[in-house]
Parts: sequence; C-alpha cells; structure tokens
Amino acid sequence: MSKKFYITTAIDYANGSPHLGHAYEKVLTDIVARFRRLMGDDVKFLTGLDEHGQKVQMSAQKQGVPEIEVCDRLAYEFQGLCAALQISNDDYIRTTEVRHKATVQSILQELYDNGEIYKAEYNGFYSVRQEQFVTEKEKVGGEWPPIYGEVTEVTETNYFFKLAQYREWLVDAIKTNEKMIYPRFRGADVLQFLKEPLNDLCISRPKERLGWGIELPFDRDFVTYVWFDALVNYLTAAGYGTAEFEKYWPADYHVIGKDILVPPHAVYWPIMLKALDIPLPRHFLVHGWWLSSGTKMSKSSGEVVKPLDLIEQFGADAFRYFVTREMNVGQDSEFSLELFMSRYNSDLANDLGNLVSRLLNMGSRYSGGKVPAAEIEESPEIELKQLWFAIQKELIPLFEDFQFHKAIDRIFSFISGINRYTEARAPWKLAKSESTEDQAALHTSLATMAEALRLSVVMLTPIMPEISDKIRGLLGTDNFDLIEGQLEWGNSLTGKDLGEKTILFPRAESI
Ligand code: ME8
Ligand code: MG
Repeated sequence: MSKKFYITTAIDYANGSPHLGHAYEKVLTDIVARFRRLMGDDVKFLTGLDEHGQKVQMSAQKQGVPEIEVCDRLAYEFQGLCAALQISNDDYIRTTEVRHKATVQSILQELYDNGEIYKAEYNGFYSVRQEQFVTEKEKVGGEWPPIYGEVTEVTETNYFFKLAQYREWLVDAIKTNEKMIYPRFRGADVLQFLKEPLNDLCISRPKERLGWGIELPFDRDFVTYVWFDALVNYLTAAGYGTAEFEKYWPADYHVIGKDILVPPHAVYWPIMLKALDIPLPRHFLVHGWWLSSGTKMSKSSGEVVKPLDLIEQFGADAFRYFVTREMNVGQDSEFSLELFMSRYNSDLANDLGNLVSRLLNMGSRYSGGKVPAAEIEESPEIELKQLWFAIQKELIPLFEDFQFHKAIDRIFSFISGINRYTEARAPWKLAKSESTEDQAALHTSLATMAEALRLSVVMLTPIMPEISDKIRGLLGTDNFDLIEGQLEWGNSLTGKDLGEKTILFPRAESI
C-alpha cells in the first residue's frame, strides 16, 4: 500500500488580493506534493482561505458590503490564482464552510468540558492589526513596533485557553524531535520564545466588538479568536471526527512563512492538539519572504508584484521556475523584474527552448522526423553521460531535502552540457557528409540529444509540469506516473516520432 502524505499551506487572509508571497507558498507546496506523488505516495494536498476576524470585518465595513461578499470575491481570486499556477491541491477549505464551523465548535466544546478553557476579566492592550492582546514585553525602546499598528487599552471579559501549563511539555517535544522544524535554525527561534513564561491564550472576542467569527458553543455572546479558528482548518479537511481522519492525520508537512511560525504554529497549535490528545503534525516547512527593495512584500506595504500579470505574460511554468530557482527554501529572496527577464530569456528561452527546437528541426531534416538509434559511443557521448551520472544520484536527495534551487542548478548545468555536446558534434556539418562514419555520428548525436533531453525534464516535472509534459510529447514519449526508472540513461526513444518544431518560450523584450 502506498504511503499517505498529507501536506498543507497556510490559509490566506481574505483581506486583500493574492501577491507573490501567496503564489510562492502554493508553488513550493505543489512541488513537494507533485514530487511525492511521483515517488508513489498517496498525497492529500490542502490549501484554502482564512475568512474570519477583525480585518475582514473592517474591510467589509469599509466597502459597505456583507463580510461573506468580500470573502466570496477573494475566494474566487485565490482559487483563480491556484488554477493559473497549475496548483494540484486536492481540497480547498474556506473557514466559513459548515464542515469547518462544526469542527471548530466541537473542539471548543471538548476543551471547555475538559476544563482547558476558563472565563476571566482582562485588562490589557489590544492590537487590531495583529488581532491579539499585546503586553509591555512586546515593546521595543518603550514603543510597540509598527507591526502592531494602533494599540488600544481595553477591559473585557473573555475566555482563555490554558496555554501556560504546557510550556515545559512543548520545550521537551521540540527538543526531542529535531526534525520537526525545517530549516532547523527556526527551531531555535521557537525555543527562544519559550524561554519566557507563556500567558494563557485569549480565545474569544465579545460579539459587540467582533461579529464575524465562529460562535463559542458554550457562550453565544462570543466568537472565537481567528487563529484558534484558522489552525483547525488542517483537522477539518482531514475529516476530523470521521474514519478518514485516522488515515490522513497527523499531517506530514505544514508549509508556512516564517512570520507565522512563532507563536501560532509552533506554540498555540501543538498545545491545542496536546490538550485534545491529537498527535502533533510531523513537520513544519518554514519558508522565508519575498522582499522588494529589502522589505517584506505584503498587502500593507503596497509593494506587491501581481503574480497573475507575470503568469499571463510568461506562463505558469516560467513563474514556477523563477521562484523556485531564486529561493533557497528557508531564506529570504529579493524579487526583481530584471532578474525574472534574464532567467526567462537565458535559461528558458535560450538554453532549454532553443535546444528543443534545434533537435526537432534537425530531426525533421536529417532523420525523417524520428529519433534515430545511437550507433557509436565516442568521447563527446562519454563526456555527456559522465556529466549525467554525476548529477543523477543527487537529484532525488536534493528534492527530499527541499533544495530545489540546487536541483534546478544541476539540471540546467546538464542542459548546458547538452548544448555543448551539440556544438561539439555539429550534426548540421555531419549531415553534409555521405560517409558511413559521419552518418553514424549524425544519428548518434540526435539520439543522444533526445535521450539527454528526456532525462533533463524528469525532475523538472514537479517544478514545470506543463512544459515537461510538452517536451516528452515532442520527444514522442508518454508522461509517467512514477519517477522510478525514469532517471536511467537508456535508448527508450529509438524510433519515436518527434513533434513539430515549436517555440516553447517566446523571447520577451520587456514586461
Ligand atoms: O498569515 N513572502 O495569512 P496571510 C513569502 N491567515 N511568503 C509570504 C509573504 C512574502 N512576502 N507574505 C505572506 C496568514 N506570505 C494567516 C495564516 S494558517 C492557519 C493562517 C505567506 O495571507 C505567509 O508567511 O497573511 C503565510 O504563510 C501565507 O503567505 C499567508 O499569509
Ligand atoms: Mg500576513
């Protein structure tokens, strides 16, 4: 039986249009999901929309429309982005759905019945922007940092989840499970946060202040805190409360950005699960930020790249290629249109695109549109095969370790190798000679180019699914279900029909 693999993205806030950061997280998760499917796993890939909370309520009020209208519009936009990016998610959760509300309420009731939630009066400072209470601890140089926006003093009665008592347990759980957080240095951030005592978590908002949320089942005057609601999406979609849940839970990977690791994912979430006696997720894959001129690209900064514009002009695969090539997972990366253009033109249009069209062109002129058999093996072939053998073994481990930028680098150095091979063999010169030797070298060179191209796109498949399928089609071969066996140098293409010459990546001058 195949191994199950449950992977999730963060669910995006329904308070602004998708930007590069959202698109990137989906692409990253999609690459892992597609890779695991090609390795034979039974994958469940979840993404979705986080629809409750004060920010959504405020943006609906500003527009003078009901909250759900704002959410429906954004759900349409975000789902449109997923489709445009060729994201292969198996489910899309919206936190306003009935299935989710039922799960959140059943969990709240259970925690309440077990004495994990209590009611208390609280006086403190509240940040609307972060939708959380803040304390003096968060001040830097006597002031709350700008990320908290306006901070106001409030006194109100609320419900609290007993977080504090689980601190030592959590420290221990993180220390004994070194592989829980990728990259590992992020685990140190969590332990640093846990050095200070924890406050219990305020998990309710009085309805007069916030109406747009899921009601507490044991007190209808309150709705639940948006993070408490949002995190539970991972359980809802796994079929919490049904037989299916046993199959998919625990999640194998929660893919999130570094801003939402501490405290929501690495502190609240494990403690919520522990209090419910539910196993913890196996891993967090924590990516960095796309920056623009050194600052985080976000709705509030206004400095956003509209991914849909790039996808429309260059195609989903070019976008997926770029963000994967330029991001070392876990680090930050600076977005620049100049770099996008240069990668597109030099790596995709030139190195890969031209190689494909050159092969198809020569195939139709010199070998009747078919892949000929390789007849000889001389130093150019030996050199190219050696180059392949050197990277072949690295590729799957690089994918398993999320080193996609390195995997791409290896693959494209092989593609450059195929281009060098082509120049060295110069089939267009060989074609002018009638000698048996030159004809054998001509056939061999076309066969070698075809096989090498086939090999190049095997591991590009999770990254650039459309282009990879297309190239296999042009080489006269089928798409595959499993990577296994696909990375071996063979002669499986001999006699296959090559496709019509096409331009895979039209050159682009400017945006
Ligand atoms: O945080 N670069 O939603 P969100 C890379 N609803 N990633 C970025 C980014 C950037 N410039 N900006 C945002 C939320 N992200 C919550 C999540 S999960 C139960 C609830 C990432 O729309 C961010 O790190 O603000 C997060 O993982 C995702 O986009 C959604 O961010
Ligand atoms: Mg955010």
